[in-house]
Amino acid sequence: MRKSILINEDWKFVKENVGAEKVFATQGEKINIPHTWNAIDGQDGGNDYYRGTCWYGKTFNKPEINNGDQVYLEFRGANSSAEVWMNNTKLSTHDGGYSTFRVNITEVLKDENELVVSVDNSPNDRVYPQKADFTFYGGIYRDVYMVIVANSHFDMDYYGGSGLIITSEINEKSAKVDLKSYVTGEADTVRYTINGVGTKEVPVVDGVASGSIEIPEVHLWDGMVDPYLYEAKAELIKNENVIDQVDSRFGCKTFSFDKDKGFILNGRPYHLRGVSRHQDRRGVGNAITREMMIEDIEIIKEIGANTIRLAHYQHDQYFYDLCDEYGMIVWAEIPYITEHMPNGRENTITQLTELIVQNVNHPSIICWGLSNEITVTGVTDDLMENHRILNDLAHSLDSTRPTTMAHVFMLEIDEPLVSLPDIMSYNLYYGWYLGNLTDNDKFFDDFHKKYPDKIIGLAEYGADANPRLQTPTPEKGDYTEQYQTVYHEHMLNMFKDRPYLWATHVWNMFDFAADGRDEGGENGINQKGLVTFDRKYKKDAFYLYKAHWSNAPFVHLCGRKYVDRHEEETEIKVYSSYDSVELYNNGELVEKQSGNKVFMFTLKLQDEHRIEVKAGNCSDEITIRKVSAKNKDYVLEGRDVINWFDDPEMNQPEGYYSIKDVMADIRKSPKGAEILDNMMNYAKSKRGDVAKNVKQSESMARIMNAMTVEALIKQAGGSIPESMVIEINKALNKVKKVND
Ligand code: GCU
Repeated sequence: MRKSILINEDWKFVKENVGAEKVFATQGEKINIPHTWNAIDGQDGGNDYYRGTCWYGKTFNKPEINNGDQVYLEFRGANSSAEVWMNNTKLSTHDGGYSTFRVNITEVLKDENELVVSVDNSPNDRVYPQKADFTFYGGIYRDVYMVIVANSHFDMDYYGGSGLIITSEINEKSAKVDLKSYVTGEADTVRYTINGVGTKEVPVVDGVASGSIEIPEVHLWDGMVDPYLYEAKAELIKNENVIDQVDSRFGCKTFSFDKDKGFILNGRPYHLRGVSRHQDRRGVGNAITREMMIEDIEIIKEIGANTIRLAHYQHDQYFYDLCDEYGMIVWAEIPYITEHMPNGRENTITQLTELIVQNVNHPSIICWGLSNEITVTGVTDDLMENHRILNDLAHSLDSTRPTTMAHVFMLEIDEPLVSLPDIMSYNLYYGWYLGNLTDNDKFFDDFHKKYPDKIIGLAEYGADANPRLQTPTPEKGDYTEQYQTVYHEHMLNMFKDRPYLWATHVWNMFDFAADGRDEGGENGINQKGLVTFDRKYKKDAFYLYKAHWSNAPFVHLCGRKYVDRHEEETEIKVYSSYDSVELYNNGELVEKQSGNKVFMFTLKLQDEHRIEVKAGNCSDEITIRKVSAKNKDYVLEGRDVINWFDDPEMNQPEGYYSIKDVMADIRKSPKGAEILDNMMNYAKSKRGDVAKNVKQSESMARIMNAMTVEALIKQAGGSIPESMVIEINKALNKVKKVND
């Protein structure tokens, strides 16, 4: 029978491209897997984390094996391209940093062995991702196993799959479970067993063994309601001996997509309302542990999400397993992202094949994401062809799940690419990057009116919030917790009237690293998370969703970090699962309110206040105090916009432009347009690689040009310093207004 041995311990790491022969001769660092060399520089900003080829080495003695046994190394994730050598022989290469791959080392095995692996996360034009708003941490960051199998065994060579595929067909109360396995070498039969149901033994014919088992009273996998999992095993039999075994859990469900009711699970509407997740975490990068994965899914369960978009790449097998167990509905995807690369087609095919082959048995996964915002720099014939190939490939590998894509909000809805996949979705950031919150409502109303039969969802939406930043007057682009709550309150209300959205995913559950970012008072971090990067702080907006999505009884006082308050009267916002709450000030009942999850109180400030809110058996408490002047710590450096216009240098001379003018007007003047283009290019440079070469759609240009320069600068999240704002205004002051 096969043996899987975890070999994460005692590796040597050399942060230099020394070459296979020199790894053991070079001074290195003793490490254990999971490991990344970008745990720190990949999340401290500057867009300068180390990207190159590094080497790992490990010596080990020959394991006990029987004659004819095959020995494999199984890498669960090495980002981004790996080369595997053993005893000075190059055995294999792998491109793609998020999937399992295996290497057969049998031929070169000795009594004592030297294994060396190079991992390369250098920029290139053929392996995705190359341009995206997240850090491409380099390293062997997921588990490594040594797998020993008999000469005849379940397939180990086909795109890292398990060799066992399980599909089920529900017929009213019963289910027909089809089990298919691929066999390498000579064998007689495969015996399938579904625990508690029955067994079926079938012959191996041309390396394939197919059988079905009937479940008379099927127990459905029903999402968060009842994520029931069956356990199946496949035993490979030769000369009446079991020589190999593969186990797999599976779930039986039906699902579909209705143009008006959205997602249908087991015959009834099941509104998918959830979050996206990146895999990285403060201090460890992508080299996370199973305990960390459990903590993540527990937090996602606490907020009450029933779906997770596991963006923007294949996640750890263990996390998909957890989603099966917890009943989360999953959007799985490959990192075909932001900018199409003609030389990357082969890699998209490999990565999608690995994603599907390795994850086809997970009941939680309901769609395969082909790409994310891939048209940021435009649509080409080659890009279209690449997507047609992937769409057909997904259907050929898995006829049970639809394909999808996450379109960038600039992509015109009439573009043919929009409806190339089976179901569609857009990433919208109106009310954050540009435009107003109601533009989100308008977008979907327009889309649904024009295309009432298309299945449309919201794959991303969000607003950054730095918990340090607090304000009594939240406004778009201020990076405060308060604005993030305003933003999400609007979006939640928008969903209520649009049940046709097949899924909505908050971007993002957790802050994550994007080393190219420099905004919102945090270097290298995207702060759209509802929870901080270290998972230690749940932002106020977290509790808005918890109130709407979970059944847990709670009350939450917003603004706990807004301690020093300069206003005369302050707003106390409460989120709660209860429909009425009581507010106390220094022990005195102030007011009892009834409402629907969101409660707003006003309190006159003087001295110090111990604020409590109570409902049922729940209570929460914060302390706030009156101060005479605004606490500067709560405001983004250089964002104290009120000062800008008090500044005597911030002129608005009659007949000349200033930052108070609308961009479209200023663009009437070539000189004015030049000033604006320079400003836009500077702001993009502060958004990492993604913002470079962005191809603006007409609709996006219309929205941008309708804004004043002042509004756009506020939007830039502090990445345009005050000194530059004054310079821009001075330059515009010299440009005569052009009248039509
Ligand atoms: C895009 C993109 C994300 C990115 C997000 C943002 O929609 O898909 O990867 O992080 O915008 O700008 O926060």
